[in-house]
Amino acid sequence: MCGIVGYIGAQEATPIILDGLKRLEYRGYDSAGICTLQEGKADTRRSEGKLINLERLIQGTPLAGRIGIGHTRWATHGPPSERNAHPHQAGSIIVVHNGIIENYLELKQRLVTSGRVFNSDTDTEVIAHLIDDKFAGTGDFERAVREALAEVRGAYALCILCEREPGVLIAAKQGSPMVVGLGEGEFFVASDIPAILSHTREMVFMEDGEMVVFRDGHPTFSTVAGAPLDKKSRHIDWSPLMAEKGGYKHFMLKEIFEQPRAVQDTIAGRLLEEQGDVRLEEMKLSDEQLRGIGRICIVACGTSWHSALVGKFLMEEHCRIPVEVDIASEFRYRNPVIDSKTLLLVISQSGETADTLAALREAKARGAVTAAICNVVDSSIAREAHGVLYTHAGPEIGVASTKAFVTQLVALYLFTIRLGRAVGTIDCEQGRTMIAGLLKVPALLEQALETNEQVERIARRYMNARDFLYLGRGMNYPIALEGALKLKEISYIHAEGYPAGEMKHGPIALIDEDMPVVVLVPKNSTYEKVLSNMEEVIARGGRVIAICSAGDEEIAKKAEVTLEVPTDGEELAPIILSVPLQLLAYHVAVLKGTDVDQPRNLAKSVTVE
Ligand code: F6R
Repeated sequence: MCGIVGYIGAQEATPIILDGLKRLEYRGYDSAGICTLQEGKADTRRSEGKLINLERLIQGTPLAGRIGIGHTRWATHGPPSERNAHPHQAGSIIVVHNGIIENYLELKQRLVTSGRVFNSDTDTEVIAHLIDDKFAGTGDFERAVREALAEVRGAYALCILCEREPGVLIAAKQGSPMVVGLGEGEFFVASDIPAILSHTREMVFMEDGEMVVFRDGHPTFSTVAGAPLDKKSRHIDWSPLMAEKGGYKHFMLKEIFEQPRAVQDTIAGRLLEEQGDVRLEEMKLSDEQLRGIGRICIVACGTSWHSALVGKFLMEEHCRIPVEVDIASEFRYRNPVIDSKTLLLVISQSGETADTLAALREAKARGAVTAAICNVVDSSIAREAHGVLYTHAGPEIGVASTKAFVTQLVALYLFTIRLGRAVGTIDCEQGRTMIAGLLKVPALLEQALETNEQVERIARRYMNARDFLYLGRGMNYPIALEGALKLKEISYIHAEGYPAGEMKHGPIALIDEDMPVVVLVPKNSTYEKVLSNMEEVIARGGRVIAICSAGDEEIAKKAEVTLEVPTDGEELAPIILSVPLQLLAYHVAVLKGTDVDQPRNLAKSVTVE
């Protein structure tokens, strides 16, 4: 997730672009850059880190020009550095990009073979070279963009300039957000409304496969393939704060709704559908190394620990390798048994959690092979582990983790396929089936998000309860833990997650008519067992909120409230079931009036012991 801004008009471009980038900084802050054109020459400033560094650079060496593009980066390919900062230039083409190009490796190989020299590790630079390559052939900027984009697979929101056509700005969208602002003889492009809201409220929302060319004082909309489009603008009357959150009341809600996109980004470019396998090069684990693993320890904290618990189920089921899951703060102080046949897998959204980092160092010192599942590129954990599997969730601003969790589950699923294929416990056919399941997840998440209003009504009904119990079995037990944690941390209501079958060994004593019990009961191999556990709660006067598979009429007859979600397949259901639990915690917290995005006593990144 990155932010892009483009401007063409009568004003100086730099202040407008800088102001836009400031409002998009929530989308990433690993590096930033701007390029303007003046008298057919590109002038670029780029700097690592937050936007303030770029501002200082520009103060020292100003940039002039009435056409320009800018970028704030959330690193996906290549560490945060000036060399990887956008804009990227190849020949006379300059590009800023938000998204992930899935086939960049094959495109890059082709371009390198034809003699092109790359100056960064990014997937974006491939686009600049590809367009420049086409431009060299035709001398027609617009045509070159269309031809190049026809060869690109993946997600992009692009702003493109050409030194040889200095009065033209082109923008194109596929998969990543893009809005166009219409001013008086001037035009704006951005990843999100807030970046341009102070200049115009007339906006055109670009759809996938669309492109706009700004030339001679007006925009021409078309499909990337070249079919003309008659796009209508909309008047936006958001307040600036609303705009920053994309119209959502809180970052947490925005991030919950971003999950289909985040999952798509996490799987993008990694699936080898034909081979029933996945490509996880950054993990730096060869087939031979994977075959040498005797045991896996997954170590994490909080929400990341919950995803680790799901990972255990997946890997043991499919790879037949014993998996232990540990809380990082416990692991590091208990003299763990580690040897060179142990794979130590740490999971961390921030990549900076002190306990997880210490556990990683401890395991490394004892000779384990280490790998990390991380969201923040080039974070300490990502750097120190031997290999890394990045979740491409984009920056998570809300303190309560949502999209990072769901993408961790996806990453664990990807790793399970890779490991199973390497050790031979997953054959090609099974790998293909698993991948086919994964590809359905974004659409299923969209459907699960449609429960939002229903969940809000449920939240209203139960918001005054003092305690909640969450029950699940098997892979859904960690999801029950996660649901309880979400409620605790943002609504300050006491909540417990429990394996449904364990309830009768103690917690059942708590059940009474004041205790809402959230039961995860999708149609799966333990369905009937969970149903019995649910009956035990009902028999003791407990109030059951059942989260079940779409179309399950049996549950509706028994539970006080039923919430149906599309759970397609047993192993991917935990991902889908997470959505109503996140929404429930969110709405209860909003109704109680707590600080949803920054709950008391919590920090996004826990860098102390
Ligand atoms: C809960 C939450 C925390 C984190 C935990 C680990 O919503 O966000 O429990 O999961 O502090 O953080 P990371 O994953 O950054 O290591």
